[in-house]
Amino acid sequence: MIKNCRNVKIIGTGSYIPKKVLTNDDLEKIVDTSNEWIIARTGISERHLAEDNETTSDLSSKAALKALKDANIEPKEIDLIIVATNSPDMVFPATACLVQEKIKAVNAATFDLQAGCTGFVYALIVAWQFISAGFYNNALIIGAETLSKFVDWTDRNTCVLFGDGAGAVILKAKEEKGILSGYLGGDGSKADMIMLPAGLSKNPASHETIEKRMHYVKMKGNEVFKNAVKSMKRSTIKALEKCNLSVKDVDCFIPHQANIRIILVVLKVLGIKKDKVFINLDKYGNTSAASVAIALDEAVKEGKIKNNNIVVLTSFGAGLTYGSIVFRWNK
Ligand code: ACO
Repeated sequence: MIKNCRNVKIIGTGSYIPKKVLTNDDLEKIVDTSNEWIIARTGISERHLAEDNETTSDLSSKAALKALKDANIEPKEIDLIIVATNSPDMVFPATACLVQEKIKAVNAATFDLQAGCTGFVYALIVAWQFISAGFYNNALIIGAETLSKFVDWTDRNTCVLFGDGAGAVILKAKEEKGILSGYLGGDGSKADMIMLPAGLSKNPASHETIEKRMHYVKMKGNEVFKNAVKSMKRSTIKALEKCNLSVKDVDCFIPHQANIRIILVVLKVLGIKKDKVFINLDKYGNTSAASVAIALDEAVKEGKIKNNNIVVLTSFGAGLTYGSIVFRWNK
């Protein structure tokens, strides 16, 4: 049973998707693949890519401003900004600092959080603790990626999967309960399943790392697939148990948008009906830490989440990491 001091809820959501679209037909011209293969094996039809001069902090700021407007609060009221990302503008300073400047959230503490595709769920749970404990009142949590800049456009195993985008929420201390529970996990023994091996302390940038194409995402797709199903099932059940709920109580289930086949297996093993799940991966591909953040915003805006609904966000990703958060929607 979780005992926190103050109740915390989501009071606003926003998202931003870059304009440039890359369809499966476009990809057929770049690598040895086909629209049929990509749709059958992943469910993805198209993805959006940031422009060369468009950064993760740019996408983040646009999503953040929409979330602030939705929450009807001013940037200066934000006490904390966390950007969950695997594709920061730079190693340092943190992308959250760049966002703070762009949106003029002058009173906010700022840091990035890296937990693979699970980053947004991790960041929500971290911010929930800060607000619940009374340390902060208002937090801006962003999941954002420009992974298209780190994808090897000669590797058909990975380049068809990823897309760029950003999603954001505003969390606030409130009288009524919003966030009910969460569960986070990690398994560093499987770190080699998804990685971007070079450019930092293990393999600093060199002619050799560039020649070996080590500055791009590497992934053992099949192994990730099996672990994704196990870990999303585990964290969903654990998070629901912690607030005395079960899968029968879930009104809207928002899983990480990586692959339609993973989502369908997760629904089956959890016993969740298809009409309870929100899916948008056909339009955006896997936007990593932005995925469930964008999906949440779209589900709300499309009226798929109604007041008093129990919502679960669940994700998995590089690390391996995994996690789920349960909340009652009462904006
Ligand atoms: N087009 C055509 N053929 C392809 C393509 C492609 N784009 N990609 C792979 N293939 C081929 C392979 O080369 C292989 O051919 P072979 O049998 O001759 O060797 C065949 O298709 C089957 O490959 P598999 O890898 O077995 O295909 P699978 O059905 O597992 O699908 C996929 C691959 C889509 C990557 C799947 O495993 C998957 O989605 N895994 C999970 C990935 C994921 O969710 N990552 C998220 C975390 S990312 C993060 O945290 C940053």
